[in-house]
Amino acid sequence: MALSLVDPSDPAAAGATPVLCVSAADWRSRADALGDGVAAFAQAQGFEGKAGQTAFAPGAGGKPAAVLWGVGDGVRPSDPFLPAKLAQLPEGVYRLDGFGGDATLAALAFALGGYRFDRYRARPAPRAVRLVMPDGVDGDAVRRVAEAVAMGRDLINTPASDLGPAELETAVRNWAQARGVALAVTVGDDLLAANFPMVHAVGRGSSRAPRLLDLTWGEESAPKVTLVGKGVCFDTGGLNIKNDAGMLLMKKDMGGAATALAIAQMVVEARLKVRLRVLVPAVENAISGTSFRPGDVLRSRKGLTVEIGNTDAEGRLILADALALADEEQPDLLVDFATLTGAARVALGPDLPPFYTDDEALAADVARTGAAVNDPVWRMPLWKPYDAMLDSKIADMNNVTTGGFAGSVTAALFLRRFVEKAKAWAHFDIYGWTPAEKPGRPFGGEPQAARLVFALLQERYAR
Ligand code: BES
Ligand code: MN
Ligand code: ZN
Repeated sequence: MALSLVDPSDPAAAGATPVLCVSAADWRSRADALGDGVAAFAQAQGFEGKAGQTAFAPGAGGKPAAVLWGVGDGVRPSDPFLPAKLAQLPEGVYRLDGFGGDATLAALAFALGGYRFDRYRARPAPRAVRLVMPDGVDGDAVRRVAEAVAMGRDLINTPASDLGPAELETAVRNWAQARGVALAVTVGDDLLAANFPMVHAVGRGSSRAPRLLDLTWGEESAPKVTLVGKGVCFDTGGLNIKNDAGMLLMKKDMGGAATALAIAQMVVEARLKVRLRVLVPAVENAISGTSFRPGDVLRSRKGLTVEIGNTDAEGRLILADALALADEEQPDLLVDFATLTGAARVALGPDLPPFYTDDEALAADVARTGAAVNDPVWRMPLWKPYDAMLDSKIADMNNVTTGGFAGSVTAALFLRRFVEKAKAWAHFDIYGWTPAEKPGRPFGGEPQAARLVFALLQERYAR
């Protein structure tokens, strides 16, 4: 991915136009200091120093001397990603001057905001606005994170016609080969022999064979961190078919897998001291004569039997087998990511994914790192009394509850039954999508919580 950040040592940085960060209170005096009439010129452009506003200050030979950039009430913008809006300036190279906020987040926002999904465009739009990496910012670290997020976004944005379980495997294989990451794959009916019956059941209705991707990297003796990502390449709902609105975006139902892979890329490239494992059950929840049915009873990898109340609650089924496998080696930290429930959106909306854990220290670290890197999440409870809602009349459990209350909580409780030995476990019920663009967050696929989990891992396991 071509990034729109310029190193200070790059010749292009020498002539960069300074972007003066000014507040509503101080912008006039700052503009006056630039020269006679500059404040009046800015005012004529409608400039008031409001957050995100820009105005040009004229310089010699018609070249702008500076850009005034409003930060509102203070030098620190309310949205740490606001500097991404500088990408709307006319073509050129710019540098921040007097920025009082988090310069790392500013540079990151600019890079994240410069993302385009142009795989299907005949003529990709050129990136004309570039920002000089601010002083004191670790440019390589910013680039690593932005590139990993872009990789995850590309996977989510790619339609199911070009990204089924096999294509996802190919993408992961190429990714792993380039980075010295080991990959083991179990495909189709081999899933039965290897005891992943629920991955098989969910995926068997599709002509595109289901599979389990198992990636490992790092020293065997290092702390074991395992990431599990829901890889439903398309979710029709199965025989409990979704309606048109419900199905429209379901190419993104592998958003959990994309998130896990984005984190893996950050971890590997930062060479954290972990033994990393990434598990991706990759399936298409399709409709055919071989689809699993409502009322079926599946025996899971763990041995628990699951009555199928609804074939559209497929994510928890494939995750259950993957989590059971992950749990077997007692990882130090087990984290899963899944576009699991519509109920999570009803509760918190598209931009604030809920997370679940019984580990108080982990919960505190997640909340803190999420705020620190502007990757917001909100803790919801693994409310034990609701466990009974998953009771089945004929099997150990049902995959759905009756009544439909607390849908995200009960889905998390379902997953918890398959995690016993892991030292700590957290589950993120993500949306994986930005429906309305915001600074640093372009429309489309988004590996939510990836940057936060990497920040947490970096804090715990940096070299
Ligand atoms: N992939 C969906 C959940 C989803 C829907 C996430 C829309 C993001 C946006 C999942 O497989 C699903 O269909 N869940 C059902 C569960 C229900 C049948 C208990 C849901 O949320 O409706
Ligand atoms: Mn579904
Ligand atoms: Zn789904």
